[in-house]
Amino acid sequence: MKADVLLGLQWGDEGKGKIVDVIAPKYDVVARFQGGPNAGHTLEFNGLKHVLHIIPSGIFHEHIANIVGNGVVIDPIVFKEEIDALEKLGVNCIKHLFISKRAHLILPTHRLLDAASESSKGKEKIGSTLRGIGPAYMDKTGRNGLRIGDVFQSDFKKKYDFLVSKHKQLLELYDYKFELKELEDKWFAGIETILKFQAIDSEIYVNDALNNNKTVLAEGAQGSLLDIDFGSYPFVTSSNTICAGACTGLGLPPTKIGEVMGIFKAYCTRVGSGPFPTELNDATGEGIRKAGNEFGSTTGRPRRCGWMDIPALRYAVMVNGVSKLIMMKADVLSHLDTIKICTHYMYEGKKINSLPYDVANASLTPVYIDFPGWKTDLRKVTADNLPAALENYIQFIEKEVNVPVSIISVGPDRTQTLERAGIMV
Ligand code: IMP
Repeated sequence: MKADVLLGLQWGDEGKGKIVDVIAPKYDVVARFQGGPNAGHTLEFNGLKHVLHIIPSGIFHEHIANIVGNGVVIDPIVFKEEIDALEKLGVNCIKHLFISKRAHLILPTHRLLDAASESSKGKEKIGSTLRGIGPAYMDKTGRNGLRIGDVFQSDFKKKYDFLVSKHKQLLELYDYKFELKELEDKWFAGIETILKFQAIDSEIYVNDALNNNKTVLAEGAQGSLLDIDFGSYPFVTSSNTICAGACTGLGLPPTKIGEVMGIFKAYCTRVGSGPFPTELNDATGEGIRKAGNEFGSTTGRPRRCGWMDIPALRYAVMVNGVSKLIMMKADVLSHLDTIKICTHYMYEGKKINSLPYDVANASLTPVYIDFPGWKTDLRKVTADNLPAALENYIQFIEKEVNVPVSIISVGPDRTQTLERAGIMV
């Protein structure tokens, strides 16, 4: 068997949690491959709304083995909070949640360093979620990090103290005032929770599963335009959010990648700083934010909203090798008379079809095509009676990026998900 990959094609918050939850029943294993508690995967079913940060979105299905892969960074405080919340809902995570020994830990001092680094940047700040993600990945690549496997070893506290003493020196350089005790107490309580779980060699687990004909879904976090290499650097996250991240973040050989399912919203959003060529700083953007409840599920920050951006989407489809597209939140645009799609940009007097290298500083003018709105309550439509205007909108996108749209989501609930005729995920 080959593993399918599901990932975001924009700046995150595309709705990955909902779709993993919808398609999860047909998988035996769901594995997160990067990111950490900066992510917020929202699932809604039976009138219940639940946000997951580190735990894979297959956790509500008892038959699924949920893996937190080596590419993920784990904050024990958030991990414990998530486990406690799930247990309250009657989900027994111990049985079907496994953590890679090679996943790195976010220390309390990583959070402090994130805050110190952001405040030192002033106006240039990235708009980080301040969850300690960047500093934890820095320690990983700097070969200083602590891993889940270390938690089970007798010298863990010694290793922890050594790394914290380094961090304290850095915090002094930033002249950053901090209080560690309360955070540390919570953190070690989280470590106690982690000790109850099975730490595994997840790369072996996942490859064995595939060799034994089990179905595996690799679940991404954030979005391709936040990728550390291919996103709008430096306004990016610190991991590889693209499909290649599933290989390094789970130990999946590239030859074992099956379908690559790319999720995008019918419009664009971005939370935090950084370039956003089709951003709408007007009443239309405000209307989309309100209709789509576009507020960060991790930080609660209002998300910036704008029109669909084809050059950015095409780029994301290219770097991921997307084979199927999933379009989310079509219902959010239902109130609009006219909907715009950016087909290219004008840059230094020339027409360009992709984001330039210097996108963070470049002055781009998006060029749009107008589409008539569908002005229909999509909660009542089925896959074979989509309004003609919506079908037209979808077909235009498919033609521009040369990949079929297999699923359209028309509301937050599991049930508000339409599979397009003849195109099955
Ligand atoms: P960090 O990963 O928390 O350091 O944040 C870096 C940038 O990525 C900031 O602009 C964040 O707002 C953005 N970001 C991080 N995680 C997410 C996410 O899950 N959804 C959307 N944006 C995110």
